[in-house]
Amino acid sequence: MSLPIPLSRSGNLSLQEQIYRFIRDKILSGGYRSGIQLPSSRDLAEGLQVARNTVTLAYEWLTSEGYIETRRGAGTFVCKVVPDIVDPPQQRSRSAAQEPPRPAIAIPFDTSVMVNKNTARPQFDFWYGRPDARQFPLKTWRRLITEQLTQATRSLAEYGEQAGEIGLRQAISEHLSTSRGFTADPSRIIITFGAQEALNIVCRLLVNDRTVVALENPGYASIVALVRSVGAMIAPVAVDEEGIIPEALHETRATLVYTTPSHQFPTGAVLPLERRQAVLAWAEKVNGYVIEDDYDSEIIYDRPPSAALAALDSNRHVIYVGSFSKSLGAGIRLGFLVLPSELVEAAVAHKSLSTFGQPWLEQAALAAFIREGHFRSHLRRIRTLYRARRDAVIESLRRYFGDELAISGHSSGLHLIWTLPEHLPDAKEVSAIARAVDVGFYTPWRVGAVEFGRIDGSERRLLIGYACLTPAEIQTGVKRVAGAIADHMRRR
Ligand SMILES: Cc1ncc(COP(=O)(O)O)c(C=O)c1O
Repeated sequence: MSLPIPLSRSGNLSLQEQIYRFIRDKILSGGYRSGIQLPSSRDLAEGLQVARNTVTLAYEWLTSEGYIETRRGAGTFVCKVVPDIVDPPQQRSRSAAQEPPRPAIAIPFDTSVMVNKNTARPQFDFWYGRPDARQFPLKTWRRLITEQLTQATRSLAEYGEQAGEIGLRQAISEHLSTSRGFTADPSRIIITFGAQEALNIVCRLLVNDRTVVALENPGYASIVALVRSVGAMIAPVAVDEEGIIPEALHETRATLVYTTPSHQFPTGAVLPLERRQAVLAWAEKVNGYVIEDDYDSEIIYDRPPSAALAALDSNRHVIYVGSFSKSLGAGIRLGFLVLPSELVEAAVAHKSLSTFGQPWLEQAALAAFIREGHFRSHLRRIRTLYRARRDAVIESLRRYFGDELAISGHSSGLHLIWTLPEHLPDAKEVSAIARAVDVGFYTPWRVGAVEFGRIDGSERRLLIGYACLTPAEIQTGVKRVAGAIADHMRRR
């Protein structure tokens, strides 16, 4: 004999607790009347395909609360007197058996790895994508915040514009025209909580469970999770050393593609002009949209900035996503969308649906920060600083692992890819060896990248983030890993 207990192995409740609750609720609702015999723990465990101990513990729990009793030699029975204290009569009238089912969580939730300021980190951490917090222009920021507060009147008490503070949208518009070479009227700009909210709005506008979305492979895990959360189908599009391969787009049924042309995530490839034009030609042909995630395009070292897709488009196909997370810091949660005009109204409505807009203070401070030229000088300063750190990584890897260094994606951004030479263990193992000596070396998959299927050579790639470490720290970290790998290989 068993019982029809529906067990979930992925929920929050343990199996033991689910069995306990099911029997308890049945007893309280009168479904199992006093005196009836329950299956033995062995039979129930077999019937439910759980460990016997799981059932024994659930039975012990029910016994301790007076719901059931075990009579030696006879079996387990529902008690004659059920204690009222556990579930008073007025609550009993709405017992689980009579309740309609709870609304189920409607979207699958799966986010990429989130590391926050409280996460424990290794001593020398080559994690991806964080700017150095010590470089945040704190003094200027404090002054600008104070100034905004001094002038604040109605801003403190009333909702702002749902699309974002007009002053900030104007400042971004001007900044884009000089730094990214395209004209974005402030009316097409929506301020968001980072690139993530921008992507979320775009998904809510254009993606449903029948949509096919083309995503770079390998690519950015957060967009994959987002697209999956809406139930859309994903068409992976191959990426090579130059970035997304436009011809591959034509093999998909997609009319929407997400891409990171300025610094492909995770490979760091910079999409050549002809490919940019080819991506736009594809969008024109299918009359679709290209989501251009320009997340770290402000931080460039050895090359002129590449033309944004949005600069080659004529306000028709490109949805441009910008973020201040890499240039200033992810903590301020500020990003923006530049949309083709026909999407603006719906996007503002969606922004409004989820947040009614966002706090004005940081927006106003950022607007002044850009307008007064501080953003430009900040960018100049961090480019010089991060270039030196990137060079320190390259130099240290050369020094400790030899001149035949295979690195890529290092002309901009806050990370580069190191392809490990054949004589070293693979990336996962190197990462574990580094971790054992308190150094964080990560595979791209650990720090927010995904790959669909198996990509040749990906098991030998490490993603080295360097913005938060000084050149001296970089050198010590790399040296420490080199020593640990050498020890490991000697022991093998
Ligand atoms: C590819 C990519 N896009 C966007 C972002 C920035 O997201 P947000 O602006 O929401 O912090 C990141 C951050 O890691 C990223 O790697």
